[in-house]
Amino acid sequence: MTAVPDLAESRTPDGVSRMFDGIAARYDRINDLMTGGMHRLWKRKLVAVLGLRQGDRVLDLCSGTGDLALLEATVTGAGGEVVGLDFSDRMLGVARTRSVPAGAPVSWVLGDATRLNWPDASFRAVSVGFGLRNVEDLGAALAEAYRVLEPGGCFASLDLGKPRSRILRLLTAIHASFIAPWLAWLAGGDRAAYAYLPRSNRHFPDQRELARRLEISGFAEVTVQDLGLGAVALVSGRKPVAGSSA
Ligand SMILES: C[S@@+](CC[C@H](N)C(=O)[O-])C[C@H]1O[C@@H](n2cnc3c(N)ncnc32)[C@H](O)[C@@H]1O
Repeated sequence: MTAVPDLAESRTPDGVSRMFDGIAARYDRINDLMTGGMHRLWKRKLVAVLGLRQGDRVLDLCSGTGDLALLEATVTGAGGEVVGLDFSDRMLGVARTRSVPAGAPVSWVLGDATRLNWPDASFRAVSVGFGLRNVEDLGAALAEAYRVLEPGGCFASLDLGKPRSRILRLLTAIHASFIAPWLAWLAGGDRAAYAYLPRSNRHFPDQRELARRLEISGFAEVTVQDLGLGAVALVSGRKPVAGSSA
């Protein structure tokens, strides 16, 4: 079982990538158990929001075991291209073992979402699923996503949210703090690793604030869709085309 770094360490890129390396082999099973399989539906919603077309080039940040990248490949078709980027070698290792459905070629790239190696305007869409919460410098990740998007391209993030209702907020906090770590343990995971979940969410803005951060980063047409009673949220925005009013 992998030793889990404490909060101070695990919030660093090194600590986060080591933690995901440690749970990579069990990540998909734990995810299914913790969300009751709902994450699959939410990921489909994210891909729908991107409005992908045949031939599009798509970047999936914090791609992990590759769910979103593989879904995107089915939409963009053989003429498209999908890149799944993550800084955990073992999470990408699991992604590499998965069969790529008929569609766009998918490549897996080891890298940091806050320092992308592609030139400006390289992608038609950029996605991130349950990833931004773990990124130490949210502003840098949003700036990079914006930079590599083509004008008119769409960015979408699916992540934990905070329900508006105080009672629901309390219930989701109880789930994240007490129930989810034990479910993770039951799935053969490391309970301590999933104790990280509520801590990571404490530092992460709620969906309304995240939407504001997207606007500050330059995105237009920013929308928020609450899922799972607001415990999860889909936040998206579009890079304006020069000359259009944002
Ligand atoms: C909770 S997993 C999400 C995986 C996948 N996107 C999904 O929705 O199932 C978060 C992933 O983000 C990755 N990650 C966190 N910060 C990152 C960063 N700065 N650059 C690249 N990957 C990062 C972790 O390694 C981990 O694989």
